[in-house]
Amino acid sequence: MRKGKADSSCFRIYDLRFTIYDLCPLKILVAITGASGALYAQRLLDNLDSHAHEIHVVLSNYAQQVIAEELPGGLKLPPGARLHNVKSMNAPFASGSNPPDVMVVIPCTMGTMGRIAHGYSEDVLLRAADVVLKEKKKLILVPRETPLSLVHVRNMELLLQAGATILPANPGFYSNPKTIQEVVDTVVARVLDHLGLPQKLVPRWSEERE
Ligand SMILES: Cc1cc2nc3c(=O)[nH]c(=O)nc-3n(C[C@H](O)[C@H](O)[C@H](O)COP(=O)(O)O)c2cc1C
Repeated sequence: MRKGKADSSCFRIYDLRFTIYDLCPLKILVAITGASGALYAQRLLDNLDSHAHEIHVVLSNYAQQVIAEELPGGLKLPPGARLHNVKSMNAPFASGSNPPDVMVVIPCTMGTMGRIAHGYSEDVLLRAADVVLKEKKKLILVPRETPLSLVHVRNMELLLQAGATILPANPGFYSNPKTIQEVVDTVVARVLDHLGLPQKLVPRWSEERE
């Protein structure tokens, strides 16, 4: 059962702030690249319900290197999540006939951002992003770089024009995060918001933590 089709197991709820939470099963592709901030990817995976949604994961070659540096225990996938080889085009989302509902590139390097912006599709991560854009599905990019050059900004402009969401890994501090994980979760909470999934990681502005 895919998002948007009528089915008794698929429904939407509205919270008191009239946010639409999509409880329909989603096919979610989490792509991890070689930018600093592997913990952003880990915390997103930790907060996706793999029983409710179909979770696919793909890593760029450089992601492995950064994960080795930044996640002492390695990357932990949720139960049932499918890890795909970046060099194999045998993944469902390599074709426009079977795109994910949403793809999140987290963290996203400037290199991958540039390649997506310019339509490079030489591995399955880039091809999937190309498919998601052309099929008008949701592409969320979580870049981590500072400062930005004009090249980066122009690539972001192109991606915004193509329909992508650019959600920089810029943590918020108004919730008074006390740990690195709580800082990271301020960004992951916004990603979950943009996926249309409920999140209780960070209280919303002017709301109390439950
Ligand atoms: C420890 C480490 C941290 C890095 N952090 C960043 C980063 O935050 N942002 C970025 O754009 N590139 C970063 N890089 C550089 C990318 O890994 C490099 O450009 C690589 O070619 C990106 O390949 P990919 O986009 O296929 O993952 C980092 C590299 C290393 C080794």
